[in-house]
Amino acid sequence: MKFGYFDDNACEYVITTPKTPLPWINYLGNKEFFSLISNTCGGYTFYKDAKLLRLTRYRYNNVPYDNNGKYFYIKDETDKANEVIWNPGWQPVKTTLDSYECRHGLGYSKFSSSKSDIKADVLTFVPMNDNCEVSKITITNNKKEDAKLVLFSYVEWCLWNADDDMKNFQRNLSTGEVEVTNDGATLFHKTEYRERRNHYAVYGVNTKVDGFDTSRDAFLGAYNGPDSPDAVAAGKCTGSVASGWSPIAAHQININLKPGESKTFIFTLGYIENPEDDKWESHGVINKKPAYALLDAYKTEEAFDKALAELNDYWKNLLGIYHVSSSNEKVDRMVNIWNQYQCMVTFNMSRSASYYESGIGRGMGFRDSCQDLLGFVHLIPDRARQRIIDIASTQFQDGSAYHQYQPLTKKGNSDIGSGFNDDPLWLIAGTSAYVRETGDLSILKEMVPFDNDMSVAKTLMDHLKCSFNFTATHKGPHGLPLIGRADWNDCLNLNCFSEHPGESFQTFGPSEGPVAESVFIAGMFVKYGEEYAQLAELLGDDAEAKRAREEIKKVYDAACTAGWDGEWFVRAYDANSNKVGSKECEEGQIFIEPQGFCVLAGIGVKEGLAEKALKSVEERLDTKYGVMILQPAYTKYHLELGEVSSYPPGYKENGGIFCHNNPWVSIAETVLGHGDRAFEIYKKTCPAYIEEISEVHCTEPYVYSQMVAGRDAKFFGQGKNSWLTGTAAWTFVNISQYILGVYPTHNGLSIDPCVPADFGDFTLTRKYRGATYNISVKQNGAQKGIKKLTVNGKEISGNIIPYEEGVKEYTVEAVMG
Ligand code: BGC
Ligand code: NOJ
Repeated sequence: MKFGYFDDNACEYVITTPKTPLPWINYLGNKEFFSLISNTCGGYTFYKDAKLLRLTRYRYNNVPYDNNGKYFYIKDETDKANEVIWNPGWQPVKTTLDSYECRHGLGYSKFSSSKSDIKADVLTFVPMNDNCEVSKITITNNKKEDAKLVLFSYVEWCLWNADDDMKNFQRNLSTGEVEVTNDGATLFHKTEYRERRNHYAVYGVNTKVDGFDTSRDAFLGAYNGPDSPDAVAAGKCTGSVASGWSPIAAHQININLKPGESKTFIFTLGYIENPEDDKWESHGVINKKPAYALLDAYKTEEAFDKALAELNDYWKNLLGIYHVSSSNEKVDRMVNIWNQYQCMVTFNMSRSASYYESGIGRGMGFRDSCQDLLGFVHLIPDRARQRIIDIASTQFQDGSAYHQYQPLTKKGNSDIGSGFNDDPLWLIAGTSAYVRETGDLSILKEMVPFDNDMSVAKTLMDHLKCSFNFTATHKGPHGLPLIGRADWNDCLNLNCFSEHPGESFQTFGPSEGPVAESVFIAGMFVKYGEEYAQLAELLGDDAEAKRAREEIKKVYDAACTAGWDGEWFVRAYDANSNKVGSKECEEGQIFIEPQGFCVLAGIGVKEGLAEKALKSVEERLDTKYGVMILQPAYTKYHLELGEVSSYPPGYKENGGIFCHNNPWVSIAETVLGHGDRAFEIYKKTCPAYIEEISEVHCTEPYVYSQMVAGRDAKFFGQGKNSWLTGTAAWTFVNISQYILGVYPTHNGLSIDPCVPADFGDFTLTRKYRGATYNISVKQNGAQKGIKKLTVNGKEISGNIIPYEEGVKEYTVEAVMG
């Protein structure tokens, strides 16, 4: 069942009922000011940091779902005896609407609804260059008589620190402060401004108002929720000025409309920071000049439309960097629109704020951010460059790294510390992707601190060397890399032995054990070790490249021997040197990660192990909804394995379909030239391909979720944790670089698609190092292999289009076969 449809021309997903299985959300904002917005107008807003500078309140873990947002209420008083109150997004009043539509687009959301011949159109976005969210609401009277309406706005302020806001009531119920100007049209939230803050929030509308409220209790009534505000029922606000308790901002606008007449209003929700020495207008009165300037900038429809056009242009340019036209409309819409859009959202949010990540938990993940980079480096290389430097600055001198860092301070997070032994190698992955994309070798010579201490700075290339050496010098009894607290699979905690509830699986126990080893890290070392060696060569250090390849060879051999179980790769060795992910195990006999990663790294290809490993994946892990992470799922808690066995079978890391590593297997299939199978795996988790089963899948049909419940779970096929997942980057890498086969190498773009036999011809535009490549591929029914490659009319040998400085246009014709 579907709850909407894709409108590819508009780059929108159109939701046609508010009753989606879960809230289906969108992200607004590109730089520093962000909002989450759901299809029922739920969500919240923050500036830079979802924990520390949250503007509006949201209620996680509450009923009903999606509780609190930025709402408009319409009270239709035309027919006194049959007054009706409704919201354009249906929530929170939930009056049955005569029509409803929500369009989530690129950085904006649009709602069009009607009730009793009154239509409301709401369009909300965050402009490119200001710290605010603007909403234009147009109310139209389609009745045959004059309409008498009252429009209310409503936002509930968060007292900035979202964590403290939901815990520290003994203080917070007394600190709330507001100011009101323009007879209530401009409402200010200034809690803590009088002491240590130099910022406040403002909510204004570009018209005179007929009333306002700033006290939640006054507007809603102490025992009501936003579903039944007293003020709306009464048809008028109370003019409350909050002092303590819960400050809000609500406007009241009385509207009379002739038949066919419309009125439009623009609401602006903004964040203002004042210089320390210019905080006050007079004693206790905040300096409002910058707030008025902001409201002024968006007070006309022309200004609003111009800012929206800027936003649209921004996305159009960005998404023009990689654009495919094939005979598969679902591939095209994911590649050209939604997959890249989701990659940008992971750039902005990392894993901080979604409907499943509360915005107060983890900061930026070291491994997560490095992998996210693989999905957006072609879009925003300059910002990716800075991101790499920020991440590398949290590395330690021995090559290990803080597992997370805080976006505001960019400092490593000592609560979680280090000891996740895959982390160092992801830095090589991200840096290599950046250099292959841009050709900018200067980043490798950039001086970068360790643990943010500039006095011990070294070049980025030296950081990569530390990463490489960390793995090379931390090996266990089988010559495989030590796992530490965990590798990519946070829940495989082989040195933890946690026996009591509440202990963090990941930080409990020693960060390093001398025995437990990871075959997955072995795969990473072979893959990214080689990328490190290539960077060394580019810098002219052939000796280092040679040394690296000798180290890689050792790990390659260990993976093919101790890491091989007969039909597939072993997952790990535990602290007692017992195999994990082996036919010898009672549960958890085969894991996806080493099969995908070892094969994509090329391990066992020439020995015939790779074919076998992928066959085993197909036989043992595949389902109709994607490839499960392990089988059989753990039915008992295994003290020696940790969190992985804590989840009920079929969920999360215990046998769920972890979407993040499905593309690894798909890429691995392309390495072996299996286009049919690679694409089959791609399709199983691809949102556009499973839109039809939205009632099973539940999460948004336009973005990937972190996890889909596996075969052992009661709700097999149900998605969870949409939006903020490394799946976005890896699926984009898979489809764009391996399946469609346009891969940036150090010497230029390589063209080597691996597609299903019936895929058909396709064309592609790729902008790369300042040039535009217009590529057309004739497939000839082949799954892999280029038999002829013509560049600007000349046939070339090999797959790589030589990059020539100064050439701005490349016409590329590739014939497969
Ligand atoms: C989750 C993982 C997550 C980890 C780190 C675990 O409970 O299952 O998916 O990566 O916590 O916060
Ligand atoms: C989610 C985490 O963000 C990511 O770092 C990890 O690799 C996966 N879970 C798997 O455990």
